[in-house]
Amino acid sequence: MSKPLKILFLISEMHPYAKIGGLGDVAASLPKALLKMGHDVRVVIPRYSSIDPDHYNTTTCLQSMGVWMGDKEEWCSVHSTKSADQVPVYMIEHGLFFHREGLYHDNGMNDYDDNPRRFAFFSRAALQLAKDISFKPDIVHANDWQSALSCAYLKVWHWNDPILGDAASLLTLHNVAYQGIYPKDHYNYIGLGWQNFTQDKLESYGKVNFLKGGIHYADLVNAVSPSFAQEITAPGGGFGLAPYLSDKKESFVGILNGIDYETWNPQTDPHLPAHFSMEKLTGKQKCKQELQRAFDLKVDKKVALIGTVGRFVDQKGFHLIAQAIERILGQMHVQFVILGSGEGDLQDYFGNLPARYPRKAGSYIGYDNRRAHLIEAGCDFFLMPSLFEPCGLNQMYSMHYGTLPIVRATGGLNDTVENYNEKEGTGTGFKFSDTSPDALYYTVGWAVSTYYDRPKHIRSMVRTAMKRDFSWQSSALQYEAAYKRAIENKKAFDTKSKYYW
Ligand code: ADP
Ligand code: GLC
Repeated sequence: MSKPLKILFLISEMHPYAKIGGLGDVAASLPKALLKMGHDVRVVIPRYSSIDPDHYNTTTCLQSMGVWMGDKEEWCSVHSTKSADQVPVYMIEHGLFFHREGLYHDNGMNDYDDNPRRFAFFSRAALQLAKDISFKPDIVHANDWQSALSCAYLKVWHWNDPILGDAASLLTLHNVAYQGIYPKDHYNYIGLGWQNFTQDKLESYGKVNFLKGGIHYADLVNAVSPSFAQEITAPGGGFGLAPYLSDKKESFVGILNGIDYETWNPQTDPHLPAHFSMEKLTGKQKCKQELQRAFDLKVDKKVALIGTVGRFVDQKGFHLIAQAIERILGQMHVQFVILGSGEGDLQDYFGNLPARYPRKAGSYIGYDNRRAHLIEAGCDFFLMPSLFEPCGLNQMYSMHYGTLPIVRATGGLNDTVENYNEKEGTGTGFKFSDTSPDALYYTVGWAVSTYYDRPKHIRSMVRTAMKRDFSWQSSALQYEAAYKRAIENKKAFDTKSKYYW
């Protein structure tokens, strides 16, 4: 291995401490893979009130840390612990900002008004932490808008700092639909200088845009799949960010997420009633029965069982499911289970579905890790009709659990699922392109008819899907290469213009 790098990894979710979606999974698994490669990686997250410090054996790392924002100094403390995988984790404790019922929004899905202050502070505090514990990072790795401003703070504030002055930055875009766009009233607090409140940097239609700013200042930017990287640089793509991403040229790359085969392993998964492998699939039948019981469906090992898990937001295409599922349940010999929470109308719709299709449809509205694992393991098909999908982890989990994904061919879904070839009997799932309920309906029909009419093909696809390697190994190597490129870019930048004023 080449020289180990010191990596400060900023992220707003991390499994098992606080997680809403895939960001939390990546925070748990990429640093773990980097640590295994010999790098010194430290993860920094906010200490939300849902995280019980005692439960995770944290110790107080800094009792009192002053963090200069643009127009005031904030005071916080820092807890530290090691994850089960021995990754050092620091938690920024600021009661006023992080002791709330949710991470980003309240239970009614209303974003907190002070999110710009909460996450500007978080980004700045993580850098201050590095200084206070004398951790001199080679790389600051920011993730999404919540920590994107760290890339800007490095260049605007810390260019001459003995601890942070040489640190290069990588910004990973997990989801460009959320950019962190806020009224400019917060800009003095954010404190990046009005001379930088310009269209090429932090300004966007009179507001401040965290992600856009991060993209400008980062030494390298990546999206979480090659297809999504392409989609968001195409004209009109990237939710308005395409021109800025295209400007980065070769400093913008796509790196596919991996999955953690220790957490998501059908042979050892503690959330399952039985274990199974590619060679011995009988345990999968037990999981199916348990799933049917857990969701009050008729226990029937022969029926095609379709499931899905996710955040009820536009991106995931749940409204397409809502528009097609009754035709599917009415006309096909299938069962359907859904686990998720989010938009109220979708919660109501899917919450009420089982009452209308008793023993055929099951739902659980809420967040439940055990049920998520059970759905991946016990279903025959996993449905993911996303309108866009930067990477998507669930389709990879499902393939590893021998559950064939039915997906819309977009972003990471397109990169990871190989479409069924009816002539050869090959593939790892079923894909469609149109964002229409009809396309979803017919593709589910295609999968279900294959299940009943060509079971040999299904068996062979299940084996192929389970064999696919989505481990972090190759992706973590690509991150290592990206860090090195970011360091080169930073060096080149420093020789030209060391600072930003
Ligand atoms: P996204 O990050 O866009 O939500 P991903 O597919 O990358 O999509 O990751 C979603 C992660 O969140 C998976 O680990 C999935 O199991 C989990 N998840 C989403 N909704 C729920 C839920 N309601 N209960 C349990 N886990 C959930
Ligand atoms: C985002 C994306 C999802 C991706 C995850 C982890 O939440 O929506 O596609 O898998 O981040 O990178």
